[in-house]
Amino acid sequence: MATREIIRLKVAESTNSVALERGEKGAAPGTVVVADSQTGGRGRLKRSWLSPPGMGLYFSLLLRPDLAVESLPKITLAAGLAICKAVEFEYGVFPQIKWPNDLLLEGRKFGGILTETGDLQNISNRQKPLVVVGVGLNLYLPESGFPPELMGRATSLSLHTDKKISADILLEACVNAIEEVVQSLEKGYFSKILSAWKQRDAAQGKILTWVTPHGKKLAGVSLGPDADGILHIRDQKGTIHEVLSGDVNLVGKILE
Ligand code: BTN
Repeated sequence: MATREIIRLKVAESTNSVALERGEKGAAPGTVVVADSQTGGRGRLKRSWLSPPGMGLYFSLLLRPDLAVESLPKITLAAGLAICKAVEFEYGVFPQIKWPNDLLLEGRKFGGILTETGDLQNISNRQKPLVVVGVGLNLYLPESGFPPELMGRATSLSLHTDKKISADILLEACVNAIEEVVQSLEKGYFSKILSAWKQRDAAQGKILTWVTPHGKKLAGVSLGPDADGILHIRDQKGTIHEVLSGDVNLVGKILE
């Protein structure tokens, strides 16, 4: 790994919080915060991320990307692709992605990404934004299994590979891959990243349901993300909806 500061904690409330705090205080891009466990691990949409000791890899990578604020959401898609490639290279499995940030193995979630930023209101044009990419990967099955609400939806890497899992090797592979893909994003290669992302899109051509910002539940066929990373879904009437944020649920394969 290139010279970087790795802050290793036994317990963190959230590695993202620690990385954001360190970033605000001037920590260098490339700094990594990794914890054995988290007491308040968080995911998208104010969900919590189960982070018991010895079961998973929980880390946050601090970045200062040379990107416009409106391009920052692309980092989550790019990081998803990077992690899939790293996991595939190390463990010979083929992870897929459910837009925007769910990492799946054989249809079940084994990882997630939470990208957060520092204060974007007060940054000058010349300042690079503070971005933290937080990654949680289930490496092993908790002794008592997954909690009921995750049953049937969650999985862990150990259930899909015979190779010995090393959290340290995986951390290095993921961090290097994320940095590499963000550099590629900075050079303007998002379309290239997107076409590789689409090879791993778990929802392409399948039926998704989602709730609109007005609270309406809709269903349609996923057309995948567009050139800006915004998800397009075609409903039964043929109307194309753009989903910018929120959650989508994979219902099943379209019958044609
Ligand atoms: C999601 O699936 O919604 C994203 C989950 C991200 C969890 C990771 S664990 C390390 C980092 N610290 C956090 O509090 N969250 C992320």
